[in-house]
Amino acid sequence: MLSLIYLSGLFASALAVEPFWNEPDTGLETYLQSTNWTEGTQPLLKDMRAIPDFDYAARQFLDDQKYSFYRTASAGEWSYRNNLEIWSKVHFRTRHLTDVTKVNETLATTILGYNFSAPIFIAPAARGAYADPDRAELNFMEASGSENTLYTAALYASKTIEELAAVKSNKTWNGPQVIFQQIYSNANLSVTWDAIARAERTGAKAIVWTIDAPATSVRHRAARYDTTNANAVTSGLTWDIYDQMKNRTKLPIIPKGISTVEDALIAIEKGVKAIYISNHGARQLDHSPSPLEIAYEIHRNAPEVFKKVEVLADSGVRYGSDVLKLLALGVKAVGLGRPFMYANCYGLGGVTKAIQLLKTEIAADAAQAGIQDIQNIPVSVLNLRALEQTVYIRESSGTN
Ligand SMILES: Cc1cc2nc3c(=O)[nH]c(=O)nc-3n(C[C@H](O)[C@H](O)[C@H](O)COP(=O)(O)O)c2cc1C
Ligand SMILES: *[C@@H]1O[C@H](CO)[C@@H](O)[C@H](O)[C@H]1NC(C)=O
Ligand SMILES: *[C@@H]1O[C@H](CO)[C@@H](O)[C@H](O)[C@H]1NC(C)=O
Ligand SMILES: *[C@@H]1O[C@H](CO)[C@@H](O)[C@H](O)[C@H]1NC(C)=O
Ligand SMILES: *[C@@H]1O[C@H](CO)[C@@H](O)[C@H](O)[C@H]1NC(C)=O
Ligand SMILES: *[C@@H]1O[C@H](CO)[C@@H](O)[C@H](O)[C@H]1NC(C)=O
Ligand SMILES: *[C@@H]1O[C@H](CO)[C@@H](O)[C@H](O)[C@H]1NC(C)=O
Repeated sequence: MLSLIYLSGLFASALAVEPFWNEPDTGLETYLQSTNWTEGTQPLLKDMRAIPDFDYAARQFLDDQKYSFYRTASAGEWSYRNNLEIWSKVHFRTRHLTDVTKVNETLATTILGYNFSAPIFIAPAARGAYADPDRAELNFMEASGSENTLYTAALYASKTIEELAAVKSNKTWNGPQVIFQQIYSNANLSVTWDAIARAERTGAKAIVWTIDAPATSVRHRAARYDTTNANAVTSGLTWDIYDQMKNRTKLPIIPKGISTVEDALIAIEKGVKAIYISNHGARQLDHSPSPLEIAYEIHRNAPEVFKKVEVLADSGVRYGSDVLKLLALGVKAVGLGRPFMYANCYGLGGVTKAIQLLKTEIAADAAQAGIQDIQNIPVSVLNLRALEQTVYIRESSGTN
């Protein structure tokens, strides 16, 4: 009797908790079952209607080990879920009867002075060959080239820096295709100088320096398959390495993984042209904050950051509306990691479709939100009250 009461209490509280959906149910599975699709096989590309659809499709297509490497996050994956769920806490404050007919002419933007068709980019991610053994990240290069969007190549991509450069488009809005090169600084710095030299030689326009991976990370989902981190080299990561890098290259160095207002301000003191807000898709530290929370922390404590440098951001972005929320806080361009890795299971066509879906959603949602100019979104389009309860506020300005 007692245990029955206990159990019913447990059920009641369990039911009160909202379940987590890796992909919210928008009818993909129901639809596929009405077609000739068999579970465990790749659905048709034409049936991919949303960015999260590509995650579902990749799970059907990839073996468990490969899918787990792409999907894994740190420890209990609480930050992974927060990255996806946080958007729901910030609702739009749409001003209606504003003329939004020209909004999709404002989708194009610049990043560090280069012209791109949209404020989105492919974030650096290792092991593209899991999805497309033959073409791997060449698809990211080619899709970004033809769509006039930015690709940030990963040091540990399946294709080498030189192989990627060989498929550079010559006919983008910038003339030859502009890419940024991600690097990890190695414990053996001559390896790092070599990577930077190769990026320069092949014409990369910026170095994206990942600062949020100073050690191996706890990734249970991937560990089950003994799949190691792409970067497990413990290196002494400090601002001193930034100073040394500055001495070695004229390329702008963009620190990737900024997660506090303090580090954003130090980066500005160091003279960076851009910072990159990220929690690495929650793959490094569980309970690290989402980009929306980080951007809000900076907005609340040092809003001038968004004027002084260009701010890039990623982690958990899956919809056009997610992109708009970050832009409204002052972010210049928004990256996606996993979605493009999953889309790459369809090769070039999948990656291209993912970019196009995002562009369409950004333009459509901007219009719905009463936004006239995607490059100048008033922060008042967001209701940020829910974040106000948890945002970090610096005690006094000037203290780090
Ligand atoms: C499979 C995979 C590999 C990654 N490899 C790298 C990497 O080599 N260097 C890096 O800076 N970030 C890496 N990341 C992190 C991404 O650059 C990006 O921060 C993250 O994926 C954004 O979150 P999202 O996947 O939710 O969009 C990787 C992410 C994934 C999913
Ligand atoms: C399923 O396959 C059968 C036989 O190939 C075909 O006749 C039918 O039209 C297909 N149905 C759908 C929904 O594609
Ligand atoms: C772009 O131009 C360079 C130099 O002319 C050439 O070597 C390269 O093959 C061209 N790339 C493509 C993709 O056509
Ligand atoms: C970007 O576009 C502007 C306006 O069309 C043009 O003046 C400028 O030269 C372009 N920048 C690059 C790097 O191509
Ligand atoms: C550091 O890397 C360079 C270049 O790869 C290599 O020649 C050298 O042996 C390495 N040094 C150490 C201490 O491992
Ligand atoms: C950078 O180069 C300058 C001039 O050569 C030198 O004085 C300085 O010590 C160097 N700094 C670092 C961090 O290597
Ligand atoms: C911009 O609007 C036109 C007309 O409504 C539409 O055809 C086009 O697809 C839109 N562009 C984007 C990027 O959504």
